[in-house]
Amino acid sequence: MTFKLVKSERRSKPELYSSLTAQLRSLLEVERDFIANAANTSSLLYHSLPDLNWSGFYLMKDGELVLGPFHGEPACVRIALGKGVCGTAAKLLETVIVADVHDFPGHIACDSKSNSEIVIPLIKEGQLLGVLDVDSPLLGRFDEEDARGLNELARILVAASDC
Ligand code: SME
Repeated sequence: MTFKLVKSERRSKPELYSSLTAQLRSLLEVERDFIANAANTSSLLYHSLPDLNWSGFYLMKDGELVLGPFHGEPACVRIALGKGVCGTAAKLLETVIVADVHDFPGHIACDSKSNSEIVIPLIKEGQLLGVLDVDSPLLGRFDEEDARGLNELARILVAASDC
């Protein structure tokens, strides 16, 4: 398989996410293994979205979140439901955007470079599979357009994989 990553830093967010949606569909169409597809999704996001220091997955295992495929520096491995930004998004089953992680009570600091964060729950047929976590060194890096775009990318990953 040859996949050429399209660099699109100067595009508007809607254009960027539209391009990423097409790239992710193409990247995942030949494979249904969830871990392989999650690994390629985290790579695509890390290398395509500007100003990130971490992108990856925590997956539900025996009632807690466990580190899954990611790009960035090594991270904390286990997060309880309700703890940190990831555990909060997983418990609420809602996207959580944090403009300044230092203001989020209970934020789990895996990488001191992170200043803002967005977490998207991965849900299939009402069941929580895990979360997609994306971190930035910039304050206020993520907004509703990122939430919409990343939710669509997470939906594509789940639909394209056996999980
Ligand atoms: N900051 C997250 C922990 C995961 S790392 O950012 C990779 C949290 O508070 O849940």
